[in-house]
Amino acid sequence: MSRIPIIAANWKMYKTGEEAQKFFQELYQRLPEPTVMVFIAPSFTALLPCAIAAEEMSYLLGAQNMHGADEGAFTGEVSANMIREVGASFVIIGHSERRRLFHESDEIIHQKMKKAFSADLLPLLCIGETIEEREAGKTMAVLEKQLKIALGTCPPADLVIAYEPVWAIGTGKTATPAIAEEAHAFCRLLLGELWGKESAEKTPILYGGSVTPETASELAKQPNIDGALVGGASLDVEKFLKIIEGFTP
Ligand code: PGA
Repeated sequence: MSRIPIIAANWKMYKTGEEAQKFFQELYQRLPEPTVMVFIAPSFTALLPCAIAAEEMSYLLGAQNMHGADEGAFTGEVSANMIREVGASFVIIGHSERRRLFHESDEIIHQKMKKAFSADLLPLLCIGETIEEREAGKTMAVLEKQLKIALGTCPPADLVIAYEPVWAIGTGKTATPAIAEEAHAFCRLLLGELWGKESAEKTPILYGGSVTPETASELAKQPNIDGALVGGASLDVEKFLKIIEGFTP
């Protein structure tokens, strides 16, 4: 991977296929040739309509989740091959909403990471501490545990990490650039211990948690912040474009 800024949209359970296509058309009209990498993760059912709409576009499509097994009796789940088939090339793994609301453990996340690597899907791994963990001085220990278990013994490969403090997601409380930079630098250090310095230097580490047009450019100035994973503000073309602008070198 290279560290060209990545601005990734996580649409969560918003936008139907039709609404998603409209967004793509509008975005493409305004930004046909982005100089940053634009990643978009719509809902599973909007992936195919988005792939059709984005055929000529340079944006990368991804899923917000997947199962760690190839196939099986897992009602309601979707496999890596299924999401690849409809045009996804990356997958968000370990988002805090999956961890918290759907009880995904670090071990489950590790299974998914292994599957993403073997299925040739680029994993966008989310890690981050809760407010209680931060206040107890456990932020770095939490990041270390989540990253180490998620990667396990996987050999170095293309990967994107998103540092997303849980207390900043959907709350309007963006981490200050200094707080985010400290966590990002630590994640890069950890990755260096696991995968070597060369891999650590080329792995993009995105910040996520209430990124807005107002906070983007200050975050972008930090040496270890290589882009953003954006939820709420990515649903609006105007705001998303301004965030992209904030990260454009
Ligand atoms: P937010 O979500 O930008 O709405 O805080 C970020 C995320 O959940 O990835």
